[in-house]
Amino acid sequence: MTNTEDRDGAKAPSEEEIEAGRLLFRKPWGFVTSVARLDQLPEEGLVEVAFAGRSNVGKSSLINALTGVKGLARTSNTPGRTQMLNYFGAPEAPLALVDMPGYGYAQAPKALVEAWTDLVYTYLQGRARLRRVFVLIDSRHGLKANDLEVLSLLDRAAVSYQLVLTKADKIKPGQLQRVMQDTAKAIAKRPAAYPEIIATSSEKGEGLAHLRAEIHKLTLM
Ligand code: GTP
Ligand code: MG
Repeated sequence: MTNTEDRDGAKAPSEEEIEAGRLLFRKPWGFVTSVARLDQLPEEGLVEVAFAGRSNVGKSSLINALTGVKGLARTSNTPGRTQMLNYFGAPEAPLALVDMPGYGYAQAPKALVEAWTDLVYTYLQGRARLRRVFVLIDSRHGLKANDLEVLSLLDRAAVSYQLVLTKADKIKPGQLQRVMQDTAKAIAKRPAAYPEIIATSSEKGEGLAHLRAEIHKLTLM
């Protein structure tokens, strides 16, 4: 392993890219708005990146860890905590971060599931300035059937997405390596998938500098 490679062998960002990412996320990130219905979506303007994934996978925790702002996005042990699209921004930052409601939350009432499924799906398919969706996968569990459904939706809608493994602190490095490889194999033929997978721990900070650099690059596109 050289210093330009992560342990999966994917090309790591350069020092300059890491620094640009660090500066972007050093800004004072704050809450912008919550969107419960499509007509509440902000006018298209800034680049957007969204964080999607099963309930409890660690979406809100990752946003807090990236921005270094504790409690910015509400986290919880109760799956289904985030029920709306929550927008976060920072002064002079050229992008918004969008925290999405989790999917696959079995206990949610049916009407609620339908309402947010509709919101999320319409958002994902129709947002012109949505540059990438980070689809978070719990590194202990790997890809599940409902993850694959979402990936298929993104493929059909031609929305670029990248997989991020979460809670890397909860498994052994060898296991993480295996999940990385299995996941990479599973997405190899998916048209809208970005091939590189990033392993993260919001708890321990692993992978965050890399992800910040990746997000910064999206603001240049
Ligand atoms: P919903 O909004 O319900 O869809 O959940 P979410 O995906 O936003 O998950 P959230 O960030 O609320 O985290 C769920 C639980 O996982 C919380 O108890 C977090 O503390 C825990 N968690 C999140 N990230 C990590 C991590 O990197 N490591 C560890 N050990 N725990 C984590
Ligand atoms: Mg959440």
